[in-house]
Parts: sequence; C-alpha cells; structure tokens
Amino acid sequence: MLLINCSNREKNCFNILKNIMNDNDTLISLSNKDLKFCLGCECCQKDLERHCVLNDYITNNVYDEVLKADTIILASPMYMSNINGILKNLLDRFNTFYNHQLLKGKKIYLLMCGYATKEENSEEIQAIIDYFNSIKEYLYFEFEFLDYFVDSDSQEVKEENSKKIETIKQRFSN
Ligand SMILES: Cc1cc2nc3c(=O)[nH]c(=O)nc-3n(C[C@H](O)[C@H](O)[C@H](O)COP(=O)(O)O)c2cc1C
Repeated sequence: MLLINCSNREKNCFNILKNIMNDNDTLISLSNKDLKFCLGCECCQKDLERHCVLNDYITNNVYDEVLKADTIILASPMYMSNINGILKNLLDRFNTFYNHQLLKGKKIYLLMCGYATKEENSEEIQAIIDYFNSIKEYLYFEFEFLDYFVDSDSQEVKEENSKKIETIKQRFSN
C-alpha cells in the first residue's frame, strides 16, 4: 500500500497516514518537495521513459511508487473548501497515466482534514467525492472517500480522531 501526504507540512494528514500504515507500506510526503506544475505539453501522451518531460520529485519518485501500488491512500487538508493545490497538481500530473490506462484497477482512497466539522464541510466533501468520481471514469481507478478529520486541540475531537484512525488501521492491516 502507498500512502501520500499532500499537505505542505508534516502535521495532521502526515500523522494520520503514519498511524494507519503497516510496516511494509510506503509513505511518501510531498511536503517541501520540488514539485512542478503540468506544462500542458501533452508529451506524456507518447511513450516517454520517465512518463513526463518535467524533472521533479513527482517524475523521479512518485510515478514509480504509484505504478507499483494496487492501493493508494491520499491525504489532503481542506483548503478553501476543496482539496489543496498539491493534491490537485498531483492529479493533473496523473495525465501521464491517462492514454495508457496505467491506473486501471487501482484503488484510490482519500482522507481529509480541516478546521470545520464533518457536518459543516458536508457539501464540500460531497463536491470533492463527485469530482473524484468524475475523473475516475477516464483515469479508470476505483475511488472511495475514507474519512474526514477535524483539526482541533480539543480532547474530545482527538479521541474521535483516534477512533477513526483505529477503524481505518484495522481495515487496511495485513
Ligand atoms: C490556506 C488554508 C485554507 C484552509 N481552508 C479551510 C477550509 O476551507 N475549510 C476547513 O475546514 N479548513 C480549512 N483550513 C484548515 C486546514 O484544512 C487544517 O488546518 C488541516 O488540518 C491542515 O492539514 P495539515 O495539518 O495536514 O497540514 C485551511 C487552512 C489553510 C492554511
């Protein structure tokens, strides 16, 4: 299993992933990495050795790990009522897998963190689920929204988050 922290810091999303991963899983953190934006050149629609003409952390590290994994858990903070820019950029960079259907059959899960409660963010979460369900049609992956975590110092919220982590951990333990 591959777990990808899409936050630019190693805090809530990163710690949740660290807590749910198994010993033999791979955790990639995109925090403070050299990440370039898609150029829109469409060179990736041809057979390129490294999948993309850009030379950055995604080309050199992330693509190979994504191709190796059957199950991928993405974690993103809620930013401006949506996934954050790093995750959106990663999805744009998945364009290289489009023509060759290289994500076919992979299971992609998303978990998110935000300040607002799950209820307060319910419309935002539904819009994000709808978005993933639309791109999975042409990228051919399977998608499930795993859970939403509240970023709070309250003891009650922390306990609730720990329970959610335990449930996910049990589900993905091998
Ligand atoms: C630029 C920015 C925008 C944010 N927008 C939202 C938002 O729209 N809704 C929300 O619930 N939280 C929002 N937050 C709070 C973050 O989602 C929250 O702190 C999250 O836990 C950060 O994840 P991390 O600790 O893994 O970086 C925002 C934070 C930042 C810095």
